[in-house]
Amino acid sequence: MKRKLFSMTMAVIMGLSLAACGSGGDQKPADEGNTAVEDKTDAPSDEGSSDESTPAESDDSASGEVANKDKPLVWFNRQPSNSSTGELDMAALSFNNNTYYVGFDANQGAELQGTMVKEYIEANIDSIDRNGDGVIGYVLAIGDIGHNDSIARTRGIRKALGTAVEKDGDINSDPVGTNTDGSASAVQDGSIEVGGKTYVVRELASQEMKNSAGATWDAATAGNAIGTWSSSFGDSIDVIASNNDGMGMSMFNAWSKDNNVPTFGYDANSDAVAAIAEGYGGTISQHADVQAYLTLRVLRNALDGVDIDTGIGTADEAGNTLSEDVFVYNEEQRSYYALNVAVTSENYKDFTDSTKIYEPVSKQLDAGAHPSKKVWLNIYNASDNFLSSTYQPLLQNYDDILNLEVDYIGGDGQTESNITNRLGNPGQYDAFAINMVKTDNAASYTALLNQ
Ligand code: BGC
Repeated sequence: MKRKLFSMTMAVIMGLSLAACGSGGDQKPADEGNTAVEDKTDAPSDEGSSDESTPAESDDSASGEVANKDKPLVWFNRQPSNSSTGELDMAALSFNNNTYYVGFDANQGAELQGTMVKEYIEANIDSIDRNGDGVIGYVLAIGDIGHNDSIARTRGIRKALGTAVEKDGDINSDPVGTNTDGSASAVQDGSIEVGGKTYVVRELASQEMKNSAGATWDAATAGNAIGTWSSSFGDSIDVIASNNDGMGMSMFNAWSKDNNVPTFGYDANSDAVAAIAEGYGGTISQHADVQAYLTLRVLRNALDGVDIDTGIGTADEAGNTLSEDVFVYNEEQRSYYALNVAVTSENYKDFTDSTKIYEPVSKQLDAGAHPSKKVWLNIYNASDNFLSSTYQPLLQNYDDILNLEVDYIGGDGQTESNITNRLGNPGQYDAFAINMVKTDNAASYTALLNQ
């Protein structure tokens, strides 16, 4: 376990370059490419703690005198960025001195997911090819073709399984529809060699799981897709990969559990972790316990007017602190990224409760020194499995510890206005935490704060 964590951390520190570097002005999204690279420009983990970036001046917020545009703002889970190119929206990320993003390291997680699937195939090579045709076929559930994290995960799977093809200097992340004959141009047939024998690996099908109303990462759509796919080429499906557990579990319950087809997701939601005992292949923890803490902690620090690293890289007076193996801070991107851990049959028992707060940051802040403040926070889609079953319960545990009174607003996952309509009176709040429907839409929120 320890060794795994260590090597994972190393991989992150190397791989972070991509997430970390807006090298040469052109901001790269946190998911661009999956390879560990050379050009480590700025400030990963270790520099996070020396960040004297922009301590809050708005510590008098309780008075209600602070303009909305100057109040602390954290974007989380959906990083302001161009949904076609992935380019970070730096205007939104640096909206004011107390603006940050909290997410996780998409490249490192994607690489872990891809490796987990590949290693599973290798370890189970004798039984994995269900119809014995020498082709290991997999299907892939894609969350949102315009979401950095989703794109990274699609690339991670294709890279690890050898099915990736390049497009514009990066791995093509387009869905292929169906590709049972191997003719799709967005992927190629890969190969895996085990015990002197070479197997073809084919992406038989992939699709963005978006419902007719426009909600992405849609679990029900994934359940329907596996129904369609399995009825026409079920014998060829040997592995299922999904950009998240919500969709993965839907496919598992609809088909793959009964057919003993290993299914791999992402998020380490409690139900998915429990399903590992029943044949779910594995998942990735994106350390939601760390992200949820960071989401509220940066607001707390800004409201208190203390160094932003307090209780993060630097212990606070209660003793809360995060170690470098669970997060990195990229100053140039004003972004905190939690690090990922693979959850498989070997270690899943350590991850059974995804809503449990992270012990190193579990100590109550003193209400005298950190008086209650009001936070407006939205979840883009109240029925997103990860956000509703893992992230929000964690936020609700941390808000008490941090003396924050948070109003939780659940969106419909389809329209930004469904959420922004409920930010009618920002003057009532001391700080804001925003999870956009679409990563391009930061201005819909900042416009309201600018009024
Ligand atoms: C999660 C998904 C979730 C998405 C929503 C991702 O980080 O892994 O499960 O649906 O965020 O934005």
